[in-house]
Amino acid sequence: MAVRRTETAAQREAAIAAAVTALSAGHLVGLPTETVYGLGADATDGRAVAAIYAAKGRPSFNPLIAHVPDLPAAERHGVFDDRARALARAFWPGPLTLVVVKRPESPISDLASAGLDTIGLRVPADAVTREILTRFGRPVAAPSANRSGRVSPTRAEDVMEELGDAVDEVIDTGPTPVGVESTIVALFDGRARLLRPGGVPREAIEAVLGEALADEPPPVDDAAPLAPGMLSSHYAPAARVRLDAASVAPGEALIAFGPDRPAGADHAAAIFDLSPAGDLTEAAANLFRALRDLDARGVTGIAVAPIPSEGLGEAIVDRLRRAAAPRP
Ligand code: TXA
Ligand code: MG
Repeated sequence: MAVRRTETAAQREAAIAAAVTALSAGHLVGLPTETVYGLGADATDGRAVAAIYAAKGRPSFNPLIAHVPDLPAAERHGVFDDRARALARAFWPGPLTLVVVKRPESPISDLASAGLDTIGLRVPADAVTREILTRFGRPVAAPSANRSGRVSPTRAEDVMEELGDAVDEVIDTGPTPVGVESTIVALFDGRARLLRPGGVPREAIEAVLGEALADEPPPVDDAAPLAPGMLSSHYAPAARVRLDAASVAPGEALIAFGPDRPAGADHAAAIFDLSPAGDLTEAAANLFRALRDLDARGVTGIAVAPIPSEGLGEAIVDRLRRAAAPRP
């Protein structure tokens, strides 16, 4: 496998060409997005999609997001009503995934959509990845490039650590600016549902729709026994994670937020401050690196200071709750 840097125009061109060649050959590519790095493959090639599930060790009933370069490309694979189009126009390219009815004529493999009659579509904002999508000309299925249940990668080196053996190429455009995955909104049965909080705050989506997002999961069918992405333990570091900590226990590390320090912070095994200024955008960008860094130091427990759950905080708290959930 090769890590492709993208600092100079020549490097970018070589990286884009290498990614398109690898995707065309049915191979896996580590692709940067503004949220997290993805593990990409040709969404129309069932064998390539199967290789994603194998590399991640992911249950094959968990559907993948198809990445496309723009709204017209998305409309070739999914049915967009006025609300879906309004959200796409407001937030694409950007950290929003829309789950809509899949067009019967879409060549996206059934394995990518896990046999559902809906499809998750997204236009990512990373300029290099969008150029890859434009030149490749087919949708790219890409879950986050971590082994199933582990912390999502926000840097090319994280992808190498997680899945280095499985990928042909990793395209390195630096640390991801948003740092938590896309917000997933389902718009296929007359309701607008929030399936996963993420990089676009709920409030911003509701402002465009002019209505509140429903929180209950969509009706499930037998092909999809799990609510989307909702294995309760997820994003799990090796260390035990404890939320809303009013104090730091002996031996624990601390994930801090803002200037306040819980009792016992002086004795923390390590401190990672998500945002000294208490800024939720900065905290989201740092979240997964904090979990990874503290894991790399070998800490056995992590106390997490309280984090407000409005705006981007909803996604941060969601990921931390999963990181803290009992492990299977
Ligand atoms: O920011 C992101 O969304 C990143 C980057 C790489 O684009 N991708 C990502 O993919 O987070 P993944 O596979 O880790 O999470 C995708 C989530 C899963 O929880 C899956 O269940 C849900 O999207 N999903 C995909 N298609 C769906 C569908 N048709 N119906 C319901 N949920 C769907
Ligand atoms: Mg993931």
